Amino acid sequence: MKITSVILAAGQGTRMHSSLPKVLHPLAGKPLIRYALDSARALSQEPPVVVVGHDAAAVRQSVGNDACFVLQEHQLGTAHAVQAAEPLLAGEPGLIVVTYADMPLLTTETLLRLVAVQQKNSGPATILTMNSDDSHGFGRVLRRPDGSVQAIVEEAQATPEILAIRELNVGAYCFTSEWLWDALKRVPLSPKGEFYLTDVAGIAVANGLAVQSVTVEDVSEALGINNRLHLAEAETFLRKRINTRHMLAGVTIVNPEVTYIESDVQIGADTVIWPNTFLRGRTTIGAGCTIGPNTIIEDSQVGRSCTILAAVLEKAILEDDVSMGPFAHLRKGAHLAKGVHMGNFGEIKNSYLGEGTKMGHFSYLGDATIGQDVNIGAGTITCNYDGVHKYPTEIGDGAFIGSDTMLVAPVKIGEGAHTGAGAVVTHDVPPGELVAGVPARPLHKKESKEKKDASQR
Ligand code: UD1
Ligand code: CA
Repeated sequence: MKITSVILAAGQGTRMHSSLPKVLHPLAGKPLIRYALDSARALSQEPPVVVVGHDAAAVRQSVGNDACFVLQEHQLGTAHAVQAAEPLLAGEPGLIVVTYADMPLLTTETLLRLVAVQQKNSGPATILTMNSDDSHGFGRVLRRPDGSVQAIVEEAQATPEILAIRELNVGAYCFTSEWLWDALKRVPLSPKGEFYLTDVAGIAVANGLAVQSVTVEDVSEALGINNRLHLAEAETFLRKRINTRHMLAGVTIVNPEVTYIESDVQIGADTVIWPNTFLRGRTTIGAGCTIGPNTIIEDSQVGRSCTILAAVLEKAILEDDVSMGPFAHLRKGAHLAKGVHMGNFGEIKNSYLGEGTKMGHFSYLGDATIGQDVNIGAGTITCNYDGVHKYPTEIGDGAFIGSDTMLVAPVKIGEGAHTGAGAVVTHDVPPGELVAGVPARPLHKKESKEKKDASQR
């Protein structure tokens, strides 16, 4: 059966006190609305329909091609919002799943249960409920003596007896498309001046049609983000959920409360993550690594058995067995091949370091291609920028770069070449050559021996 999701995202989110639309506030690295979209896409191949209104352009831009959009020009309530999707969806048989864009913790599993129950329902609607004493702001679920759903009553409309009800409307629904569009037309204007989607439950029952329900056990799933306190609460729940998933899959997280892993990050088994570590964006970490403490890794690929201590990595690639830190910084395009060692106070940008190369202390490599088993001495700098252009540096296999060498790019250091401490290299150095001085000049071994002999005479 065809299943289409309708995600309501037209509201203003006044209580966020923000110039950013509520549904675009980031949560564990993704805009709020992403969570509803991801669940919708797990539910069905059909593109979800997002109802936009307040700040529509920004929301559309953030969602991009992952959904269809309909505009609810004036926010006259959730029933009115769903109606905006009618021109796009009416006349197509199937199921319509309605969710709110500000409920990021609702799981795909729960929505699947909702759909499964509706698929067996002889009536036109299934609603999601939960039991909680924390009822503020929620619609109350009324049941008939036989236990079936009778109606949902919004808090603003509830009598004291109804307010005391602890079964709450979570805010996710599954309807038969054939019935929904007609039912929405029968929703009355509430005293508050809104058309409530929740009224369709009562409308079905009044017409002798059954409304089924699914109850969520984990009430955190129902957390709706209305202000920044809720945002922080959701962040805590989500962090716990993500960290739990990794721990159960074989990752050691020494202190999960202070380990911040975004939803799309992948981590191999037997990796140990020390506190105050942030793994962000499209990051993958191989098996058997030790990460942190105090490490930030963003959009990077880390191989197996790497050690990263107190470091910052952005859009970098580490092959297996790399060790780095403390206090090391990889920027975009840094690629460290197998077994590279990078010590403290180094920075690498847009550069490749070949297998087994070592850069122990206080260096900057930018726009450089470094071969295998190269030693980069302490304080080595690629002077890659003349204030206008950037220039490349190449260093061949087995070269030895002496401490405090300045490599004035563009420049090439041949295989097995040496630079002396403090050299300022302004010209290419042939393979096997030794250069030293400012500016660096070749020190031919034979010549230097003759000079030595002469001075001894
Ligand atoms: C809604 C439910 C309530 C439920 C609660 C759970 C209704 C009438 N009430 O109340 O029963 O317990 O969620 O959190 O549905 N929106 C639009 N257009 C509008 C109005 C709202 O797109 O005209 C969107 C909002 O952007 C939001 C969602 O619909 O994403 C829910 O609206 P909101 O005003 O937050 O509803 P609640 O008062 O929380
Ligand atoms: Ca809400």
